[in-house]
Amino acid sequence: MTILIEKGHIIDPSQGIDGIGDILIEDGKIREVKIQKTPPLPPLTKGGRRGGSDSELRTIDATGLYVFPGFVDMHAHLREPGFEYKETIKTGTLAAVKGGFTTVCCMPNTYPVNDNASVTEFIIRKAAQEGSCAVLPIGAITKGQKGEELAEIGTMRNEGCIAFSDDGHPVMNSLIMRRALEYSKAFNVPIISHCEDLTLSEGGVINEGLTSVTLGLRGIPAEAEMIMVFRDILLAELTDGRLHIAHVSTEGSVELIRDAKKRGTPVTAETCPHYFSLTEDAVRDYDTNAKVNPPLRTKRDIDAVKEGLQDGTIDVIATDHAPHHRDEKLKEFDLAPSGISGLETALSLSIRLVEEGILTMSQLIEKMALNPSRILGLPLYGSKGTLKPGADADITIIDMKKEVRIEASKFLSKGKNTPFEGWMLKGVPVVTISKGKIYEWQ
Ligand code: DOR
Repeated sequence: MTILIEKGHIIDPSQGIDGIGDILIEDGKIREVKIQKTPPLPPLTKGGRRGGSDSELRTIDATGLYVFPGFVDMHAHLREPGFEYKETIKTGTLAAVKGGFTTVCCMPNTYPVNDNASVTEFIIRKAAQEGSCAVLPIGAITKGQKGEELAEIGTMRNEGCIAFSDDGHPVMNSLIMRRALEYSKAFNVPIISHCEDLTLSEGGVINEGLTSVTLGLRGIPAEAEMIMVFRDILLAELTDGRLHIAHVSTEGSVELIRDAKKRGTPVTAETCPHYFSLTEDAVRDYDTNAKVNPPLRTKRDIDAVKEGLQDGTIDVIATDHAPHHRDEKLKEFDLAPSGISGLETALSLSIRLVEEGILTMSQLIEKMALNPSRILGLPLYGSKGTLKPGADADITIIDMKKEVRIEASKFLSKGKNTPFEGWMLKGVPVVTISKGKIYEWQ
């Protein structure tokens, strides 16, 4: 099929494109992007086959809409195999394309854990059959994510894992983390670190501070994250390995990463929409939907995270999509699992950064598409996060004027666990093109 997207406001930071124009797609790949100059250039044509006579040509009028490379989520939990009652590859990838994502990297805390090539192979096969978008697995750093013994990083890499992480758990043993970072160099993959000193966070369920004292809940100090961020930065300097810090939530972590980058340390970092949208106040009425790990922090931390996004300290906005079953979230606060269902709210929450003047639209697309693709080396996997000719035709078309009310009951994800219920937000995907299919959203 040939698809022509006409007159949209195209932004593609990989080519420095920001203007009104057309995109021609052929056989699932971008063929040409043409930006209007003054006077406008002649329209794109496909070897004389364009026009009403070509039954295979599909034209999408994007007048008044933004057209972006499909977003790449480098941190999501798709729960399959093992926790299909929370999410499956099928439902999770549908939620992804609804949210404008066309590539999802799935964390290994499944059952069994993705710590060997057969689980990796299962995920890749299932995603090829049932996934609405590209699914790239992240393998575990240690066997069973127990932090004791390195997993089969080499064989998982060969099978298709694009990064390694024990996400959900830290690698407490510094020697094992050192070895993992050494492997990351040899295999040219990032190690994604869930930074949490378990001896400090033990028993904690929310941020440590006035709120934890008032609510009578055990707190997790910011230092539990910062200590591990600093340790891993030092290990990245020691090994020259490729370190990526997951879900940055504290002011101190932002400062440590900023300083490390200034020194030339090979470190990159991500944060998630909830860490720049909500403070610990969201748990004041014991709302388990706002229970997340690392926990929601303070206004000061939010401001620092935003600053980190603005000055480039934080490279990526990832969702940490963590769907859980309603019954699990109905448990008392201490016992409920941590996590927010994030794929269908990430874009509109992040657009607020543009409205606030923290990021330009182009910088936002960098953080949601280009940078994750670069960090993960996705050009090797068919060119993601870019609209360069030859790249996969992964595209998201956004209506910035459209206002949407967040209603979990309408999520395509099985996970309805969101602390953003009822929020009115602007900017929604109206069309997503993924794996050669056009999804149109109301
Ligand atoms: O809140 C979280 N949920 N943080 C994590 O690190 C893991 C995730 C999950 O798997 O539910």
